[in-house]
Amino acid sequence: GTTLGGAAARTGRYFGTAVSASKLSDSVYTGILSREFSMITPENEMKIDATEPNQGQFSYTNADRIVAQAKSQGAQVRGHTLAWHSQQPGWMQGMEGSALRTAMLNHVTQVATHYRGQLYSWDVVNEAFADGSSGARRDSNLQRTGNDWIEAAFRAARAADPGAKLCYNDYNTDDWGQAKTQAVYRMVQDFESRGVPIDCVGFQSHFNSNSPVPSNYQTTLQNFASLGVDVQITELDIEGSGTAQANSFSTVTKACVAVARCNGMTVWGIRDTDSWRASATPLLFDGSGNKKAAYTAVLDAL
Ligand code: XIL
Repeated sequence: GTTLGGAAARTGRYFGTAVSASKLSDSVYTGILSREFSMITPENEMKIDATEPNQGQFSYTNADRIVAQAKSQGAQVRGHTLAWHSQQPGWMQGMEGSALRTAMLNHVTQVATHYRGQLYSWDVVNEAFADGSSGARRDSNLQRTGNDWIEAAFRAARAADPGAKLCYNDYNTDDWGQAKTQAVYRMVQDFESRGVPIDCVGFQSHFNSNSPVPSNYQTTLQNFASLGVDVQITELDIEGSGTAQANSFSTVTKACVAVARCNGMTVWGIRDTDSWRASATPLLFDGSGNKKAAYTAVLDAL
């Protein structure tokens, strides 16, 4: 039979999952991982608190384990993430102004240089826009260093690893009618017009009953792609079970497949029990590693 990665490859796409280094000793987990997935995102191991726990002291052991697993199974890696308001180490949380700007850019340069030539892409900046109707940037210590912090991070990442695709990644950007979606769209348009290096936009796509798959999801993916960037579904999980959940996974998969520049999708974990929201049972395999209806729906839609 075929697999998610194999089915996606028939149209030149990848199919990925988030991976935790701590689970690489679980043979059920690694069995599914190596069989099904052609792209891996470290779930936490490349975040700022993991890679620079003390300022100027870099720690790559767990991230390197995941990169080694990817190589051993012939998968690629999406680096996640170089600059983010969350999961900052304590030393960075307490910084501001030009000292923080310098520290952030040094972090981007050091980590991207460590993995130079080894990664498919970097989520250079994660979740920089506010929810709700404002269309504004999210307030954070990074944002308070100046509105140009995002483009500065992208330029530093390009200089450090010219071969990695550079992505902006966010959530609640799936509905074309939302102010947050429009604000990210305008940033990408602005970056393209001024030559700021950006190659891709990631749609996390954490869906639940309060935030279901929007009816205009494919339109959103297509509109961003039309700006000249690749689009990717980067952290897909959908609360639910049975046929309803399977139908939502099918809708998302079909939307990606219908957009030429939607070149891959990633689910945020393997088994329901691996999920950061395990009680939502939002993934493609149950806790025992059995394929759910949602798995078959995705496979059939690829
Ligand atoms: C989550 C991880 O899954 C959890 O293990 C961790 O405790 C918190 O972060 N948006 C992102 C991801 O970009 O990095 C987050 O991952 C989920 C939301």
